[in-house]
Amino acid sequence: MQPKSPPNPGRRKFLIAATSAVGAVGIAGAAVPFLGSWNPSAKAEAAGAPAVADISKLRPGELLIVEWRGVPIYVVKHSTESLNQIDKNLERLADPESNEEQQPEYARNKLRSRREGISVLTAVCTHLACAPKFYPQLGVNDFDNNWQGGFFCPCHGSKFDLAGRVYAGVPAPTNLPVPPHYYKSDDILVIGEDGDVT
Ligand code: FES
Repeated sequence: MQPKSPPNPGRRKFLIAATSAVGAVGIAGAAVPFLGSWNPSAKAEAAGAPAVADISKLRPGELLIVEWRGVPIYVVKHSTESLNQIDKNLERLADPESNEEQQPEYARNKLRSRREGISVLTAVCTHLACAPKFYPQLGVNDFDNNWQGGFFCPCHGSKFDLAGRVYAGVPAPTNLPVPPHYYKSDDILVIGEDGDVT
């Protein structure tokens, strides 16, 4: 039997990002139309372009949803409370050290991301690709008696912590993937490229 999705995520907070795709493929396509037969179409190139998001309005405990290549990406800004809890749940996780290749090397750390306090996660369950939902609040809820905050997949009950690490004993086999990403400035996050990794 499928677990029931809680009817109300409570203090769930999320924002939808206005993003822009980088590149000038549309201009090139218009100026040299005959190249279209063997160059990738502008639409295809735009679909592969990185997504650029302004994270300046993202507050601790909130989630920003950014679309990249047609896939939602969750950007989590951790609260002090969740940062204090993030390592208190390791025995319940299947891959707490992120040993599986589910993130770039620079994101193989506690929050699985590049900047302390922020996690960037592909919002696609690693079981059968449903969208896990954001439940940041700690405590007892409909699917866990000692929830430490994170993501719950309503399709078959998989659970992930706030860094996208999967719980042991759930259908999802691996942590949520971390997409390539970097920070162009304090407020600008680029998803889809590694930037300077040296
Ligand atoms: S798709 Fe998420 S648990 Fe099955």
